[in-house]
Amino acid sequence: MAGPVVDLRSDTVTRPTPGMREAMVGAEVGDDVLDHDPTTLALEEKVAALLGKERALFFPSGVQANQTALAIHGQAGSEVILEAGAHIFNYEEGAGAALSGLQLRPVATHDGLLTPDLVREAIRPSSPYVLSTCLIALENTHNGAGGKILPLETMRGIRGVAQEAGLPVHLDGARLWHACAETGSPPADYGCLADTVMVCLSKGLGAPVGSLLAGTSELMARAWRIRRRLGGGMRQSGFLAAAGIYALDHHLAHLGEDHARARELARGAGEIPGIQVVVPETNIVMLDFPDPVVSLDGILAALEAEGVLMVRFGPRRLRAVTHLDVDDAGITRALSVLARAMEEGS
Ligand SMILES: Cc1ncc(COP(=O)(O)O)c(C=O)c1O
Repeated sequence: MAGPVVDLRSDTVTRPTPGMREAMVGAEVGDDVLDHDPTTLALEEKVAALLGKERALFFPSGVQANQTALAIHGQAGSEVILEAGAHIFNYEEGAGAALSGLQLRPVATHDGLLTPDLVREAIRPSSPYVLSTCLIALENTHNGAGGKILPLETMRGIRGVAQEAGLPVHLDGARLWHACAETGSPPADYGCLADTVMVCLSKGLGAPVGSLLAGTSELMARAWRIRRRLGGGMRQSGFLAAAGIYALDHHLAHLGEDHARARELARGAGEIPGIQVVVPETNIVMLDFPDPVVSLDGILAALEAEGVLMVRFGPRRLRAVTHLDVDDAGITRALSVLARAMEEGS
């Protein structure tokens, strides 16, 4: 193997940098469940301000923060509208149903992007014989759709439709930072179009753990109780929050470099015979292998043998995600290993 492993499986695989580790070790901490941890509070205030919200709460994971949002917006037996490829629908262990008694209503799209018209059509009519819609849940960027950005204009339209129907909007913004880095729009421009916003610090930003849920003080007071019910109250969480503050201060500004590397990976992979790429908008690259003779297990094994890791994302598709721990040399190596694997007909 020529060089360190190029791990493109996810942007969650990053290891804390020396500067981040130093910030963690030196963090001032307290008991956050009892009466606040000062560093956690500082992170919560920072993220609330970035998203233009009154308050934010620190969570151990994005799933728990998303599920807390579903619990505060929904009533058991009511329905959440979301895009069919959404993380909340596909990758959260059925938690909406299991924990909050919610029915999830997946709306199929060709590109992962909901539209105001699709949402309007999916909202249930007010009738004693039809279950009621309780929430519209959006995802930006959209992981399953290859890091696609839901444009502000579309979000504004969906927000308008939701408001007409008297419905709240939750935004799964695990990678909202990436949408902001690409469009140049500040997080608050997206934040003001949802009642609750979830953001992650452990995807692309390089923090080891952590997500936040933001909204009004009233909603976050309810979220605090649900988080505790779910076992998400963390005591000296300042050690983790310090990593999050460090990530926002030092890594946020570099997301554009990950996007450029994703484009370079897509460009190079698109030149390899037998591979089709979806041009990435942010840091997620989807590689399609239309010829059924090409074994994706074989390709993954050949890549791994050369220290390049990707994951399967469908029967004929692999996913590669760029992040803080992958540099230009890593992309060059991934491309040459991929070309060799295809040539050798793995
Ligand atoms: C869009 C999206 N939402 C939520 C999550 C869940 O985050 P976590 O893994 O921190 O629970 C992920 C994780 O990859 C994600 O991609």
